[in-house]
Amino acid sequence: MSFEPYRQRFRAALKEIEEAGMWKREREITTAQRPRLSLREPGGAPRLTLNLCANNYLGLADHPEVIEAACRAAREHGFGMASVRFICGTQDLHRELEARISRFLGTEDTILYGSCFDANGGLFETLLGPEDAILTDELNHASIIDGVRLAKAKRRIFKHSDMADLRAGLEEHRSARGRLIVTDGVFSMHGDLARLPEICGLAEEHGALVVVDDSHATGLVGPTGRGTPERFGVQGRVDVVTSTLGKALGGGSGGFASGRAELIALLRQRSRPYLFSNSVAPPIAGGALKALDILEREPERVERLRASTRRFREAMTGAGFSIAPGEHPIVPIVIGDERKTAAMAEDLFRRGVLAVGFTYPVVPKGQARIRVQVSAAHTPEDLDHAVRCFVEAARAVGVLPP
Ligand SMILES: Cc1ncc(COP(=O)(O)O)c(C=O)c1O
Repeated sequence: MSFEPYRQRFRAALKEIEEAGMWKREREITTAQRPRLSLREPGGAPRLTLNLCANNYLGLADHPEVIEAACRAAREHGFGMASVRFICGTQDLHRELEARISRFLGTEDTILYGSCFDANGGLFETLLGPEDAILTDELNHASIIDGVRLAKAKRRIFKHSDMADLRAGLEEHRSARGRLIVTDGVFSMHGDLARLPEICGLAEEHGALVVVDDSHATGLVGPTGRGTPERFGVQGRVDVVTSTLGKALGGGSGGFASGRAELIALLRQRSRPYLFSNSVAPPIAGGALKALDILEREPERVERLRASTRRFREAMTGAGFSIAPGEHPIVPIVIGDERKTAAMAEDLFRRGVLAVGFTYPVVPKGQARIRVQVSAAHTPEDLDHAVRCFVEAARAVGVLPP
């Protein structure tokens, strides 16, 4: 078989992506993940850059104690498990981390996955059948969209955070055997929070389960970083939280589902990404346990992140950028036009600031944006410098008047 016709087809697709200003470039980082990075363009020399786009919310990705805990776990438990959990892939470390997450979140039980993408991929088809219905926010993360697609249940997408539309969907499906509402706790491209008290109220009224993906909230949202259920005082009313170990909790990798005991037990028996994929590696489990220790020992990290977020949001608004009001360290600067967004991100990079532009398919066409993520590891000087660079870059590319 000749690859030639396929080569032409794929080349045309790549050209289209590039011409539309949607090309995603990967720069090489030559240091650990942290606010001041050394970055290298292909073929270029490493440059010191202020990083404004990691999910390293608590600054734990290069924390010496997390690194040491990961190394210790590797020394004592090995590098990898080379097995799924139920064959010979469960160590004391996995059990300890699951119990620790349950205690932290105040849930009955927890199951680890290789990623939160997998946790969402294996959830819905396991819990629901064709007699059931899923109600899903239109801006939910791609992993929820894919997980919902895998399920045989009926699907009803409700308008973003629109409680009237959610109610209408619940009523449309009142004769289904069961209903499940799924939402991101924090919407990753907007930084807004789900309306959990209303969602839980509607769920109780209509006998529905509630699933919250708290990937951008675990460790940082809520008074003690226990996520959006803590932020809104609805712990115990959310049936399942899915989340990641790949963001605030050290940023390694791995994910989990945490919630009602029977539901987690069923996932352990039936969930395909759990049954048919390798165990979380011991160094990841060891590092994540240490990240939780540090988070609980140093609550000031969460407070610092909150204060820094406020400072950055206020300064950017004061400088003339239109930023939707909010409280989350995800701060989207929506520019709209794809090429202008790419030009502004490039200009920022030349000024030594890494803030990546997001374009289709990560966000809808015409809603391109630069997404900033504040970290507890940023200093006030870092953030003030970032605002100055944003203003200069925006003037240079015509996003702000000169
Ligand atoms: C809301 C949400 N859910 C799930 C994921 C996937 O997490 P992981 O990297 O653990 O697969 C992400 C990461 O981008 C996310 O933002």
